[in-house]
Amino acid sequence: MSNVRAEEHSLNPRQFQELCDMVYEITGIVLKESKREMVYRRLMRRIRELNVPSFSEYFQLLKTNDSEELPNFINAITTNLTSFYRESHHFDYLLENFLPEHEKFTGAKRRLRVWSSACSTGEEPYTLSITLNKYFGRQINLWDCKILATDLDTNVLDTSKEGVYKLDRIESLPTKIKKDWFESAEPDYPGHVRVNEILKDIITFKQLNLLNAWPMKGPFDVIFCRNVLIYFDRPTQEAILEKFLKILRPGGALMLGHSESVAKGYSQLDPVGRTTYIKL
Ligand SMILES: C[S@@+](CC[C@H](N)C(=O)[O-])C[C@H]1O[C@@H](n2cnc3c(N)ncnc32)[C@H](O)[C@@H]1O
Repeated sequence: MSNVRAEEHSLNPRQFQELCDMVYEITGIVLKESKREMVYRRLMRRIRELNVPSFSEYFQLLKTNDSEELPNFINAITTNLTSFYRESHHFDYLLENFLPEHEKFTGAKRRLRVWSSACSTGEEPYTLSITLNKYFGRQINLWDCKILATDLDTNVLDTSKEGVYKLDRIESLPTKIKKDWFESAEPDYPGHVRVNEILKDIITFKQLNLLNAWPMKGPFDVIFCRNVLIYFDRPTQEAILEKFLKILRPGGALMLGHSESVAKGYSQLDPVGRTTYIKL
């Protein structure tokens, strides 16, 4: 039986503030008062799973040195909404504009580095892999072509690596894409599909907090940073954008999410389409 007492379930304003401060410090995510209910529900799930008696004691767990609960806490806070071909104009831009130019740029080196910097459950990097495989065809084997897919949340990274999705996640995709790049995951996973192994060949999944030091040196040719900067405040957005600018090659492409305007007005970034920028 659960050890969680009803009167201990409330998250008082001081505790909510403490929690917001902790989330901000670790992840850069700014939790607004409007998210209080959502945060409460998500953490209550953890509290019940752990059978911890109260929020106060849950906080104590988080504050212990090397807290094992901290990653679960972070995973519970992040919002991971994504889909295959989300904001599809970015993939069209790669196919029609960027990749033909990049072929000329890289010449005999045939090197391509793409970073999906908040990859969530993997739909974004797999859509990138489909795009590159479609563009290069079998020639992709002659290329030094890599996609780095990172996220802060370890749960979504596990899903990404597995590459198994409910059938309805691909329902709206064109038949040819479904046929070429997905296969049934039954009987292991009834009602699920698995991405074609070929798509995984060029992707490396790693955990990375955008707020911490980045181990990669680059240069990257393409960076996707979509629908994550919206969770950060302006100074954090600008600090991350500056770091992208350092690691993106001149002529490289930066794709942001539909409501992310931080790159506007940066003299080094030339807007070439909807939330699509080329580094000058
Ligand atoms: C809404 S999803 C966006 C997924 C995908 N880029 C898209 O546009 O469909 C936001 C992702 O950002 C990740 N995230 C949040 N804070 C982060 C941080 N500080 N570092 C890295 N990833 C973070 C979350 O875990 C989540 O998976």
